[in-house]
Amino acid sequence: MDARQMKIKAAEAALEYVEDGMRLGIGTGSTAEEFVRLLAEKVAGGFRIQGVPTSERTARLCVELGVPLKSLDELPELDLTIDGADEVDPQLRLIKGGGGALLREKIVATASSRMIVIADETKVVDMLGAFKLPIEVNSFGLVATRIAVDKLAARHGLTGDISVRASGDGPFRTDGGHLILDASFGRIPDADALARDLNAIAGVVEHGLFIGIASLAIIAGPDGARKLGA
Ligand code: A5P
Repeated sequence: MDARQMKIKAAEAALEYVEDGMRLGIGTGSTAEEFVRLLAEKVAGGFRIQGVPTSERTARLCVELGVPLKSLDELPELDLTIDGADEVDPQLRLIKGGGGALLREKIVATASSRMIVIADETKVVDMLGAFKLPIEVNSFGLVATRIAVDKLAARHGLTGDISVRASGDGPFRTDGGHLILDASFGRIPDADALARDLNAIAGVVEHGLFIGIASLAIIAGPDGARKLGA
């Protein structure tokens, strides 16, 4: 089974949790896109859902495939969000934001009664941090914010480069117009404390640590999909 087939396996298993009539948060990334394709087939067959996309990219795919969308303001309370992740640890803590959609992903997931993560085996880690932690920051005061993040990292005993994400010749901009700092910490021994402390920095809009948000992860490997959590 190749990487794409594993993503499809995870997406198929997640689709079983989607019920007719649900208000559904729809994630971002290549795994979430496999989910959107499967969902679109069900919708074409008469299944009714109302989706809230977590990015412009996901919104475009949903429109293209005929998945009905609402904005989060029209549908502020959701039944379920299904989204991918860059890392998943045994406590279902996540790193997200590799695709730059972490802010909307977190807003949508926390507006949902439940979040289910879909991922392949490569995303499962004992300790978060091998994947660069995305930190979404306001472009005003970028240098000051970066210094504050650097000092915070040092207090947490974290070393490693913190760089502004690039896209083409310029910086990457999120759907909200912000910048992303990618922090190469390697290992994050106390992700809960780091998450709290990052949120206390004024220039930090949001970070990619999703803690206490997902209740189930569907992990696909060569032998099929297994579940972490309930
Ligand atoms: C988007 O900002 C991310 O949080 C994605 O959910 C994450 O990067 C997973 O993407 P893939 O499914 O493409 O690995």
